[in-house]
Amino acid sequence: MSEAVDARSPGLSYQELLDTDTHPVPQVLRLESPAPRGHLDMSIDRYISADFHQLEMERLWGRVWQFACREEHIPNPGDHVVYEIGNHSYIVVRSHSGAIKCFVNACLHRGRQIKQYDGYSSELRCPFHGFAWNTDGQLTDIPARWDFPQINASEWSLPEARVGIWAGFVFINPDPDAGSFEAFLGDLPAHFERWNLTDRYVQAHVAKEIRANWKIAQEAFCEAFHVNATHPQTLPYLGDTNSQVDVWDTFARVITPGGTPSPLLNWEPDEADILRHMLDIRDDMDLPWSLEGTTARRSAADSARERWRPMVGDLVDDWSDAEFIDNLDYTLFPNFHPWGAFNRIVYRFRPNGNDHRSSIMEVLLLAPFTGERPAPAPVLHLDAEQPWTDAEPLGMLGKVFDQDTFNMERVQRGLETTRKPGVTLAGYQEAKVRWLNETLDRWLED
Ligand code: FES
Ligand SMILES: [Fe+2]
Repeated sequence: MSEAVDARSPGLSYQELLDTDTHPVPQVLRLESPAPRGHLDMSIDRYISADFHQLEMERLWGRVWQFACREEHIPNPGDHVVYEIGNHSYIVVRSHSGAIKCFVNACLHRGRQIKQYDGYSSELRCPFHGFAWNTDGQLTDIPARWDFPQINASEWSLPEARVGIWAGFVFINPDPDAGSFEAFLGDLPAHFERWNLTDRYVQAHVAKEIRANWKIAQEAFCEAFHVNATHPQTLPYLGDTNSQVDVWDTFARVITPGGTPSPLLNWEPDEADILRHMLDIRDDMDLPWSLEGTTARRSAADSARERWRPMVGDLVDDWSDAEFIDNLDYTLFPNFHPWGAFNRIVYRFRPNGNDHRSSIMEVLLLAPFTGERPAPAPVLHLDAEQPWTDAEPLGMLGKVFDQDTFNMERVQRGLETTRKPGVTLAGYQEAKVRWLNETLDRWLED
């Protein structure tokens, strides 16, 4: 069963589907940047080796730009978030000058973590013996100053990590010599120009412990190839294998078309079938609107347009069906997934402390608002046993995430026992998984 190396899925390509849109399609969706098709297996030590995790801690997490929090989490001077990655901990704080600063979360006296929780405080005072710094990181108080003649206050500022802000997302980089945040983002801000993630608020925020390496968890959201086996209920309305996969330098995307059936479906749905499955409506129930003269894809886009109209006004008439219906999963290396267009989803994947077999997956829903910005939702924590469906604010997404999560621990366990030294990747559909790991390998080699 040998096939051409540039073979493609039967059915409409994503670009052909865009040609049928009822509204002008933005240029950003017309971009195509396929990765060269790699066919080599990828070694599995990246998932199962504690040494590999240590290397990631030093050479990746110690040097890369990484999403820490939203600006709205720390709106006022003194507000702070404790950002943890592996066994490293940072305080991200709004200083009294208004700028956002990031400090290594360790007291310069005898090393205690200065902050354990997110919150507000007028200064950064260590709970152990009471050394204190202001929100700009300058040393302001040493209890029993007479006993520390060796300390020169001007040399005792808290070590800083660098801070970059894009679209309301606060990123940090522990490496003082790192390249600029803007250069790291590349063209990503240009891709999101139409979708204004700045003026959204955190409507829901769920963090779940996963019993698998952070890359296994993340890779479950980097390809649509798994949809046929993992989410079969979506096949009547999801063009899984017709996804478009694009890779740039530090970011990549998979666009999976909605409102169009999968080429892997073994029956031919009509438009009513497609809409029924999209909306999860039983066969014996009426459709919510007539499909006369329209299609499931177009009418679902129209319905979404009307849902957004009260929020953004007649701007919705400039937006394409694709922007309302398709799944635009962007990934900024190494672990940040803001969905494009008018979807609310953002994912983040992190190692869970120093355990390379455990990770934290987070889902944030970023929603538009009118009037005053609502306060960001507090984090809802789920342990490894609790299903996503326990997180009420996620609605129907919980069921889908549970299907994905069900694979993750099993992938970890399979990789611990396999006799095969590498995982095998699809050349096109799994190109984002390959890009993530090849990019990671380059960081680890330097
Ligand atoms: S360890 Fe922080 S004041 Fe002593
Ligand atoms: Fe999935």
